[in-house]
Amino acid sequence: MITGIGYGKTILFGEHFVVHNIPAIASALDLKTTATLKVNSSLNDIKFIDESRSSFERRELFFSQENDDKLCKLTKLLLEQMNKSVNDLSCEIHLKSNVPEYGGAGLSAALTVSLVRLYSNYFDLNLSDSEVARISYKGEKLFHGTPSGIDNTVATYGGLLWFVKNNPDNIIEPLDIDTKGLLVIGDTRISHNVMELVAEVRRRKETEPEIYNPVFSRAKEIVHQARDLLRNGNWNKIGKLMNDNHVLLQKVGVSIQALDDLVDLSMKNGALGAKLTGGGGGGCMIALVPNEKIQENILSTMIDSGFHAYKTSIGKSERIIK
Ligand code: PMV
Repeated sequence: MITGIGYGKTILFGEHFVVHNIPAIASALDLKTTATLKVNSSLNDIKFIDESRSSFERRELFFSQENDDKLCKLTKLLLEQMNKSVNDLSCEIHLKSNVPEYGGAGLSAALTVSLVRLYSNYFDLNLSDSEVARISYKGEKLFHGTPSGIDNTVATYGGLLWFVKNNPDNIIEPLDIDTKGLLVIGDTRISHNVMELVAEVRRRKETEPEIYNPVFSRAKEIVHQARDLLRNGNWNKIGKLMNDNHVLLQKVGVSIQALDDLVDLSMKNGALGAKLTGGGGGGCMIALVPNEKIQENILSTMIDSGFHAYKTSIGKSERIIK
């Protein structure tokens, strides 16, 4: 049996601003997508089977060159990038994921990276991480138009990363820190359209620079300060910066009431800081908490209030994906 894994991610600082070449900090999550290939010679090409509780597209899907489905388009594109064709495969691909499906946690990148790793393993291509990230970026464009590249980078490399969108090569630095930060992820389960949200932020910046340039400058300051604080393990101050970052995201118009409510709920229940994570407009938020008791309490309060919630941690220095 051949498998490929891609990790979900959370952006701690700098979503949206990262599209405009401002640095961002993100961490892989212990939530992941796994693709498993089973050879089935009775098939002409690929049958996808979604076994996860989340639904990528639909439960069973036969590949065909004419099929317009995103999963089929994605597979065609990824295989082309590897100089392979779907005709080289007669198999079932089983997909499993526990990455939140309504956005903010990088599900599309986790799926794309899991497939790139799967095909690389199947064809013995031995792709390097940078090749996996490069090919996955092409796949991400199918979902998001002009992504910064942070999602596929974190889903590929794992760990805690400093990321700057840059031409020709993005700047990617692992942040090796000794301490661990505890998080709760709150999921609104409201779906968002990242492409539209990114376009709206760009429109605001271009049409009213006098209002938005200072917001972008502050975002840049925050992410630099956060990097230093992460290195010193100063979680109290990191929490405060997360709140400041959330206010900036409200200013550029990507937060919604449910995300603000989850941030308020977290702060009232003892979080050190909280903010939306990812594209906003729905999707997920994160709360940084001082200890496991408060983590548990915020988790259950979110669930009691009708949201989905997950516990996780950030800051391990080792890579998740070896
Ligand atoms: O909502 P997500 O998990 O797809 O994250 C989007 C992050 C943005 O910064 C808004 C877009 C990007 O390409 O970086």
